[in-house]
Formats: sequence, C-alpha cells, structure tokens
Amino acid sequence: MPMRDSELKTKQTDQGGARRLVMVSNRLPLSLEHVEGEGWRTNPAAGGLVAALDPVMRRRGGVWVGWPGVADESTETLRDVLDSQHNGDVDYRLEPVSLTSHEISGFYEGFSNEVIWPLFHNRFTSCNFDPHYWQSYQDVNHRFALRVAEVAQAGDFIWVHDYHLVNVADQLRELGITNRSSFFQHIPFPTADIFCNLPWWREIVYALLSYDFIGLQTVTDRINFLDVLTTLFDEVKTTAGDNGVDIEIGDQGLARHQQQLRIGTLPISIDYDHISEVAGSKETGEYMAEFRASWRDQTTVVLGVDRLDYTKGLPEKFEAFRELLRRHPELRGRIVLQQHVIPSRQRVPQYAEQKQEIERLVGEINGEFTEPGWVPIHYMFGRMSPPELMAHYQVADIALITPLKDGMNLVAKEFCAAQIEQRSVLILSEFAGTAAEFGENALLINPHDVVTTAESIYEAYSMPEEERRRRMQAMRQIVKNHTAFDWVDQFLEAAGADS
Ligand code: G6P
Repeated sequence: MPMRDSELKTKQTDQGGARRLVMVSNRLPLSLEHVEGEGWRTNPAAGGLVAALDPVMRRRGGVWVGWPGVADESTETLRDVLDSQHNGDVDYRLEPVSLTSHEISGFYEGFSNEVIWPLFHNRFTSCNFDPHYWQSYQDVNHRFALRVAEVAQAGDFIWVHDYHLVNVADQLRELGITNRSSFFQHIPFPTADIFCNLPWWREIVYALLSYDFIGLQTVTDRINFLDVLTTLFDEVKTTAGDNGVDIEIGDQGLARHQQQLRIGTLPISIDYDHISEVAGSKETGEYMAEFRASWRDQTTVVLGVDRLDYTKGLPEKFEAFRELLRRHPELRGRIVLQQHVIPSRQRVPQYAEQKQEIERLVGEINGEFTEPGWVPIHYMFGRMSPPELMAHYQVADIALITPLKDGMNLVAKEFCAAQIEQRSVLILSEFAGTAAEFGENALLINPHDVVTTAESIYEAYSMPEEERRRRMQAMRQIVKNHTAFDWVDQFLEAAGADS
C-alpha cells in the first residue's frame, strides 16, 4: 500500500531531516482510463516533466498532487483507484485533483494549451485569448491550492511545476499557507515583446512573485523573465549569487506579493542509470534484433521521436528529409526516416490540424520517392514501451530532433544515455534547451533552414566512426554528470528547501 502522511514523516526523519516534498503538477505520472467492461486502466503519462520527476519521487518519497487525466470523477473515486493501482512498493503518494469536462476544456485545453503554450513558444498569433479560459484557469488553480493546503504539513517544501499552475502559490497565501514554495517552468520563457501580448500578463507576473524561488531551464529564459520584470516595475535590483539571481523589487504597491525572490537556471535532466539499464536489458536486445532484421542491409536509420506538437518542427523535419533526397539522390534506397509521433492534446484544434498536416506531408514525400523495396519515411503514431523506445534509440544511426522552440527536450538526453555502443549522431535544433548543454557535440541546426538541415543529415551519414564516438562520448558524459537527481538536489539547494 502507498504510505500515508505519518509514515512519510517517519521516513523523512530517517533520511536525516530533509523536508518532505509536496510536488504539484497538472498531470500525475499515471493517467487513468475507465474501460467499459474492464474497469480502470492506468497508463504512464507522456512528456518530459513526468519522465524527469517520477524517478526522483520514487527515490526520495513525498506526495504528488495532480490531475490523473480523466474527467468528471469524484476525488474519492480517483483516490481509491490511485491507491489501488499506484505501484504498492513505491514510497510516495499520489493525491488526485478532479476536473470536470468543462474545466478541462477551459483550463487545460483552453488557457494552458491555447494561450500560454503557444505564447511561450513564440507563436502568439496562434493564441486564443478567450476571457473564459482565463477565468477557468484561475478557478482550477484555486482548486489545486485547496488540495495542496489539505495535504501539506508544516515544514513541507511545496514545489509547483509548469505553466498550468502559475497561480497556485498566490492562492496558497490567500489560504494562509506559509510553507516555502517554489516554481519550476519546464517550457521556455518568451521575450517581453511576446509575453506582453497576453491580456493578463501583469496578473501572471504578480502570481509568479508569490513564489520564493523560480527555476527556469536556460540562461535565455532567465534573461527574458528579468526583462519582463523590468517592463513592469520601475526598480528591479538584481544580485548574482552562487545559487541564482536575487531580485528585489522596489515597488511599494506590491501588497500581498513579495518584493524579494530568487531565480535560478536549472536545466532538467533524466535518470541516466535507469535509461542505461533498460537500454542494456534482454527485452530491449530482443526488440533491437527484430528491428535490425526489418531493415535492408546497410540501411541508415534516421530516427525522430516527438510528442504530437506544432512546436516540434515535424513538417520542417520532413521537408529537410525531402531536400536531402533531392540533393543526394545516391541516398535513395539507402536511408530512411523513422518518425514516431506520440499522441498528445488531440482535442485542441491546432493539434488535430498538425496531425493532418504531417500525415499529408508524409504521404506526399513517400509518393514522390518510394521505390520497390524502399519507403523513405516510416511514420508511426502511438505509444511505445520503454524497452521498445530504447531499442529504437540504439538501432538508429542518426537522431533528428528539430523543435522550433523547446524548453529542454529530454528525448535528446535519453537518446545519448541509451547509446551504449556510442556510434550514433545527434542532429539537434539550436532552439532546444538541450543545445545549450550539448553545444557543438551535436550537429546544431536551425530547423527553419531545410537546406542546412538536409546537409547536416548528409554530414552525419558520412561522419567517420571515430568522430561519432568522440561526440557521443562527450554528450553521454554531460548527461551522466547532471542527472534528474542532481537537478533536484541543485534545485532544492538553490531554493533553500532544506535550510
Ligand atoms: C510538456 C510540458 C508538461 C506536459 C507534457 C505533456 O513536457 O512541459 O507539463 O505534461 O508536455 O503534455 P500534456 O498536455 O499531455 O500534459
């Protein structure tokens, strides 16, 4: 059975007094689904946030408050299902927040994914600034705060994640909760020029100022956030320290908001050892043998793995591959692009449109180049098990990751961690947070530039083995030296969690 609060408290003391973590994110790591005639089924939730946090919570313990992905179920039902389905030997508890269909439409699909997501990924012309969405966002953030207030004990460290829940700390303060609270933003922070298109941008900034500490993925995100603060306030004093930048706002009109907080640059990572272990497992090996046998001898496999999202640059990737086949006809029949797309947010209109667009493009390109015995793009829409994914990472000769904008992109890090043979090349968009860490060890590209991307694929194709190995070794070391566990330790230290 999952541990209850009292047991967790004992564990916390056993661990040397580290504060108990109360993680708060829109999604829990498990997504529930009610199947007619079968009952409740659990699926692992997709995305970088869950991939990074779940292993940390398994090791450290605590409580994770979030939405289990279903509509219109009572909290009691959700809690019972989670208690019975959440792996019994893990030492952290999942606490559900229930959402109605109406709230999912206004808060999650609406404000989170039709307003903040496109805006923060530089696509403000795609935003739907519907005022009902903003109301729903505030209401649901309030609901999350109520649930956190119920489970949090004195001394717990409250850590809120991502753009869905910016208002939670402000609401907690309203409810009289005085625990230290921090926020980590998994997605990019846009420039002031873009951010200020949001009709409620001031409210969002004030809400952020209710946190004691804010973590962002990259230095660019931090600079952009500071820029927004200086747009709003006459006097913003910054002092750079070891753990981030201390900010003091000299505006007396802040009332219940803070005038001091710290922001840090803390790039998220993965559980390197776990990925290496799964990559080296027997099951993964069996998949690898099966996948290798399915390709003609000497086929170069270019791999893409992306959530369905218009920020991932999928049409641009396909166009670059088409350009490669036009410019280097000798590669026809010898190279394939294997693109896995993981289903995501399909009720949001832009996502449904994106799916249609990429499927049309795949059909068009395959129609242009397919020959007997060879199809250039192998497109798969669906989920994969971890061993299957690890096998694809290892069978691939080249990974092609081309987001137009991405907070981090953990697929790039997983790909490297899984490269036990250290023989493959990573081509990476310079607009992914990962690019700031991998630098020139990856082949960096601008995804809008299809000609250079095509030539980078050619460069990767022709790259001598020794150079591939040298680059991959360097990237693996970067990931190994900074895992999800290091990220959490650094975050908690910078946030003053255990002080
Ligand atoms: C990104 C976001 C996460 C989100 C994930 C999956 O990684 O940063 O907060 O959970 O995408 O998206 P979804 O809408 O399915 O939660």
